[in-house]
Amino acid sequence: MVIILDFGSQYTYLILKSVQQLNVSCKVVPYDINISEIIELDPGAIIFSGSPYSVLEDEAPFCDKKIFELGIPILGICYGMQLICHLLGGKVGHSLKKEFGYVELIINEEHKLFEGLKTGDVVWMSHSDKIEKVPDGYETYSSTINTPFVAMQNNAKKIYAVQFHPEVSHTEKGLFIFKNFIYGICGLKPNWTPISFIEKASKKIKEMVGDAGVVLGLSGGVDSSVTAALLHKVIGDRLYPILVDTGLMRKNEVAEIQQMFENIGIHINVVNAKEVFLDELKGVVDPEKKRKIIGKLFIEIFEKEALKFNNVQFLAQGTLYPDVIESSSSKTENGPSVTIKSHHNVGGLPENFNLKLIEPLRELFKYEVRVIGKELGLPDEILFRHPFPGPGLAVRIIGDVTEEKVAVLQEIDHIFIDELRKSFYYDRIWQAFAVLLPVQTVGVMGDDRTYENVCALRAVNSLDGMTADWTKIPYNVLRQISNRIINEVNGVNRVVYDISSKPPSTIEWE
Ligand code: XMP
Repeated sequence: MVIILDFGSQYTYLILKSVQQLNVSCKVVPYDINISEIIELDPGAIIFSGSPYSVLEDEAPFCDKKIFELGIPILGICYGMQLICHLLGGKVGHSLKKEFGYVELIINEEHKLFEGLKTGDVVWMSHSDKIEKVPDGYETYSSTINTPFVAMQNNAKKIYAVQFHPEVSHTEKGLFIFKNFIYGICGLKPNWTPISFIEKASKKIKEMVGDAGVVLGLSGGVDSSVTAALLHKVIGDRLYPILVDTGLMRKNEVAEIQQMFENIGIHINVVNAKEVFLDELKGVVDPEKKRKIIGKLFIEIFEKEALKFNNVQFLAQGTLYPDVIESSSSKTENGPSVTIKSHHNVGGLPENFNLKLIEPLRELFKYEVRVIGKELGLPDEILFRHPFPGPGLAVRIIGDVTEEKVAVLQEIDHIFIDELRKSFYYDRIWQAFAVLLPVQTVGVMGDDRTYENVCALRAVNSLDGMTADWTKIPYNVLRQISNRIINEVNGVNRVVYDISSKPPSTIEWE
């Protein structure tokens, strides 16, 4: 496998994605991972990510220098290159000319890492420091108009580095760099397939669970559904999927999910907790507070339900890699990246929680999870359902949450999704949903003045939920949706369409 040392770059996940595109197993680890842990993982290659820090800052994240003595090939990217240089006796300085965005590469000498690239190829830079002197024993073979050292290497020590970001799609031939490094230099073979993933994950689950029982938080979304199918394949009826009816689900969703799972032979336990969720959320406006309250309730319910089944020692969750990254990126306390939102299934467990966590999809992206789900025999109606957040409609009702508002939003959402299905847009969209705004506007219906709520529609296209662009739904489809919502839903007299991308916005409004 390949390990990526995460120094806090927003692009670490793109490095992971690049390696996974080469069908090689890959794992992101914190930058300050112990050397003994690395030896235990036995990687065939190590990649250093970029970082928002400069190696010249006091609080800059440094890895253990012994990593360079392991004899495992290393590829440093951007900050990763500067760190290698800094730690091994070269010189890094602040650059007067910062380099951000597209730059043309100058290749002075052919090199294995750059096979397939040529002078004039466009690469994407994002750095303000630059290397002034490479460490002794290092050769350089590429530059740009502003940066004399764009790549360096010590072949004998198998250490390589590039200043640009091969992981971003703007570096058109970026994948060549990973291919050359991983296949060419490290000699790793493409061995990641859905079947190999399922085999490895099953083995791990068996070892971990033994003959204990597992409760699973099932939402009916693709992540928890695939987790359920995988666990069910390994431990059969010792898996107890729990669907908490929070009252914050889509219209008819609980019954639909139950039916879908019955159809594939997995029995689900539904817990009706509508009242307690609405009670606890009464008057709460702050999005993070809503998320925390909901997360805590889920945990309490799972703990309570677990007691009803035989020898349950584990809670399984469908946590994916982007959830982990956006909730907090490093295991370490001073992990260098920022929490965007508290996802209820990441990091929300109390210290004295008495079930052990099992998250077999934690290193995967949603498109990979869908491939795994297909291999496990899940139907498309589960695999291609739009993602739905754990906190449900509570984070789509801006302001306080009430039963009446939930009912209104369920109707709006139902019409939106129904029309998308009818117009064959549903499957072309990553995620579509409605948001109820605490804003009233004036309208006219018949001869009467109305003063009612506004709702927003949001539809986005995305590969992994980390970045997203709003979907250009045709006007005639939008018109039909808007007409139906205003005519059929009491309490709404205006519909707006959200045209923000992520970043700078997020997909959910809260
Ligand atoms: P954001 O709003 O962070 O959403 O851009 C990215 C993706 O994650 C989903 N999401 C969640 N999923 N628990 C989940 O399981 C959560 O707490 C949660 N919050 C957001 C969101 O719907 C989108 O697909």
